[in-house]
Amino acid sequence: EFLARRAADVEEALREAAAQEIMPRWRRLAEHEVDHKSGPHDLVTDADRKAELYLTKTLPALLPGSVVVGEEAVHANPASYEAIRGEAPVWIVDPVDGTRQFVRGEPGFCTLVALAHGGVVHASWTYAPARGLLATAVRGRGALLDGEPLHSGSPEPGSELRVAVSHPDYTTDEQKRALLGLWTDGVAPRSCGSAGLEYLAIARGESDATAFSWEAAWDHAAGLLLVEEAGGTHLTRAGEPFRITGGNTLPFTAARDAATARRVAGLLSDGS
Ligand code: IPD
Ligand code: CA
Ligand code: CA
Ligand code: CA
Repeated sequence: EFLARRAADVEEALREAAAQEIMPRWRRLAEHEVDHKSGPHDLVTDADRKAELYLTKTLPALLPGSVVVGEEAVHANPASYEAIRGEAPVWIVDPVDGTRQFVRGEPGFCTLVALAHGGVVHASWTYAPARGLLATAVRGRGALLDGEPLHSGSPEPGSELRVAVSHPDYTTDEQKRALLGLWTDGVAPRSCGSAGLEYLAIARGESDATAFSWEAAWDHAAGLLLVEEAGGTHLTRAGEPFRITGGNTLPFTAARDAATARRVAGLLSDGS
């Protein structure tokens, strides 16, 4: 089947996109290569645009009939997001997740690719080129980091929970009130600046959970499967699994195990 034959080609595409379009610009970005989208913190660079173009050409050729939904293409044409809910298999692409960190010359950014069909993510890739990390997941077959199995494990009983807060600039006041529920005894809120790397930290057991307050599928699709296949799970504030096709009650949480997800989702719903 497709993944058995072609997973290595997807990896190769990610590595090439980074080698050709992302890493040569890291710490060498010219001013004219950086643009603003909706506001001062909403950045896009030539690395984002060109890496997405590279993947948009390469990935559909690996799976005939598949389409791409990419962050920057959706910015140019919002209607293209609808393919997430369409009939065809869809490659969901975030060419640079953590653009602000990329622009600052920090290593905390990654490329995210998920292959979904009918709203279900079947495989995912999280590649952090400046850190030299590649995490992959295939539904029902586990998660790997640089070829080694990933197990999220559980927090130490009685230990303080390491919960990250990941939010876009447009988080609503209601969502902020829900997030405030995290500032409670036994929880240590933090943030890392790349949604994809938040998921990787959970899958590795380096973080216990993250609360996210937005839905864009390119930020979540890859990491949700990575966390699930490493043994973790996700829940919205309403106590349901997060769906990449939308309509979720936000914020939601992804966590190392089911008990932690329930605890954090509970804190989020008590907050408002
Ligand atoms: C952003 C990062 C960040 C999160 C933002 C995202 P981008 O993605 O994941 O951690 O707080 O909401 O938009 O724009 O750098 O791909
Ligand atoms: Ca962006
Ligand atoms: Ca992103
Ligand atoms: Ca991005």
